[in-house]
Amino acid sequence: MSLSKETIDKIRETADVVEVVGDYVTLKKRGQSHIANCPFHNEKTPSFNVSASKGIYKCFGCGKAGDSIQFVMDIEGLGYVEALKHLAKKYGIAFEETAPTAEEVVQRNERESLYIVLNHAKNYYQEILHENEEGKAIGLSYFKERGFSEDTIKKFELGYSLDAWEAFTKDALVKQYSLDLLEKAGLSIKREQTEVGKSSHYDRFRGRVIFPIHNVSGRVIAFGARILKTEKTQPKYINSPETEVYHKSQILYGIAQARNAIRNEDNCYLVEGYTDVISLHQAGVENVVASSGTSLTDEQIKLISRYSHNITVLYDGDNAGIKASLRGIDMILEAGLDVNVVLFPDGDDPDSYVKKIGAPSFREYIKAQKQDFITFKTKLFLDDAAQDPIKKAGIIKDIVESIAKIPDGIKRAVLFQQCSKLLQIDEQVLIAESNKIQITKNKKRIEEPQILTESESAIADYLDKNNETPMNELELVKLQERELIRLLVNFGNEQMEGDVRFIDYLLQEVADHEFKHPLYSRMLTFIQSEAINGNSIDTSIFIAHSDSEIRNEAIGMITSKYEASSNWEKFQIVVPTEKDNLFQSVFTSIMRLKWRSIRDMIELNMQNLLEPLEDAEVQKFQHIHIQLKSAEKEVAAVLGIVIGK
Ligand code: CTP
Ligand code: MN
Repeated sequence: MSLSKETIDKIRETADVVEVVGDYVTLKKRGQSHIANCPFHNEKTPSFNVSASKGIYKCFGCGKAGDSIQFVMDIEGLGYVEALKHLAKKYGIAFEETAPTAEEVVQRNERESLYIVLNHAKNYYQEILHENEEGKAIGLSYFKERGFSEDTIKKFELGYSLDAWEAFTKDALVKQYSLDLLEKAGLSIKREQTEVGKSSHYDRFRGRVIFPIHNVSGRVIAFGARILKTEKTQPKYINSPETEVYHKSQILYGIAQARNAIRNEDNCYLVEGYTDVISLHQAGVENVVASSGTSLTDEQIKLISRYSHNITVLYDGDNAGIKASLRGIDMILEAGLDVNVVLFPDGDDPDSYVKKIGAPSFREYIKAQKQDFITFKTKLFLDDAAQDPIKKAGIIKDIVESIAKIPDGIKRAVLFQQCSKLLQIDEQVLIAESNKIQITKNKKRIEEPQILTESESAIADYLDKNNETPMNELELVKLQERELIRLLVNFGNEQMEGDVRFIDYLLQEVADHEFKHPLYSRMLTFIQSEAINGNSIDTSIFIAHSDSEIRNEAIGMITSKYEASSNWEKFQIVVPTEKDNLFQSVFTSIMRLKWRSIRDMIELNMQNLLEPLEDAEVQKFQHIHIQLKSAEKEVAAVLGIVIGK
């Protein structure tokens, strides 16, 4: 059971950390290193670092770190030796492995045992398909009839289970697999009542073709089994139950075979069935996975997002298919991924359609028919509801609901424009509708605060003025600083609750904050000195200011007051009557500014960490990172609550 030192060294040399990690997460090059969202904890900004030269990874968020072997141990839940073997297999490094004795099987931990017995079952069903008379006559000929080639059958490790009650279980017992394990793996089922002459367990899969389900790294974790007869009393597919290693909401059929193609194509086709995945592969489309009958889950979307942020949904053109696509679209959008749709003629699924028109035409079809979700929904509306204003209203609402789910404010703004053109509806109407949805959503959300993403007040202003999208963090800070100054200029003299001067409150809040933008920094200093001298902060002191830059900017702020508030409304950043809501408005603004600059500092600190560093320095920066992260969380929590009101 042990590997020789030479083998271990060879594995260490070969298993490039970037490549190994890259199999599980989408890495981006940053200077000397690669970064990604950490696969071990949930995060929106990447703290996970991989250094090719050092051969290590390190997450500054959760602290997980190690070399490529440690990574495999962590992500696959394997022991040291198993991780080494896993890598050896990946890189085709030969190592001697003796067949496990019954004792060894018992000794290994349960997960590992499950993998072993599942792998055995896969081999068994494959062998039946290819070697056994019944297997060949029924199973293999079925696959051939469906047009699956020998290569395809091998690639997906398809098999056949004999039409008998205990064929598999008995054979496995002879080979020393324990009943307990067979049952835990979902392969054998315990009889309710033991009968004389019958064994205590029977096979789950009988007289069916077998589709092994693999995890990301290609290990078999479950099976789907399709019936071949047309018996109405039997389900078409029988699938493995949930087990220690199979959680169907977390896995996608075909992910092991597809993941490299998904990364290379930067797109993932999402289909419904096992046979769709297989047929598409055979047609040369390899970036495809199936949700396999269960409705799509967030975890499955997250799994895809390790490899690409673009999903193309390939569903039936029938009602059920359309319904499933609609649901999928919203979930994908909500996860922050981009989604396109390809529909097939009613009655066809991808598998039957590729058979009908052939591989080359099929590939062209999916390219040509691929539509973004707004076009998709709009077409539904045109086909369905062109003459029916009530239906039309329903569809518009539906589209707006989808857009409202997108976390990124800039993307949303762009989509509203597109949607307004397509549907010939005033953009403002769409935005107003979206605001309604956002408000209800924010009311519900307290647990997971959503910062009105990327400071949408600033975005609204920015988009309005520039009519385009690129914006970096510094520009956002600048816009937020401007917003605070604008509030001071316009409302400096207002009183807040409890006889507190607005200006004193605000100045106190920003006291420890260094304004980055020189003009706003100067304006702040000026306001501070006026306030300290007890002068009232009237708009006139700005208009009369000797510094022409300050003068101009202040004038702009005063005159843009009403425009600005309409922009704010557009994104539902409150302020219907800005003066009445002053406290909340400024509080939110300050918090946004703080949040933004914390994020800025995190980014800068991360950059530091990418440089070659002494250990002590690494520790220092890591410590800073942790502190910043917790500060970010605090501010985010506050913002979530304020915004929610
Ligand atoms: N499915 C299931 N159990 C069922 C029916 C379906 O688990 N009783 C899942 C399977 O993963 C199946 C997918 O839902 O692949 C899609 O179902 P369907 O379209 O009916 O099956 P196909 O895969 O298209 O099978 P075929 O083409 O052989 O009819
Ligand atoms: Mn089908």
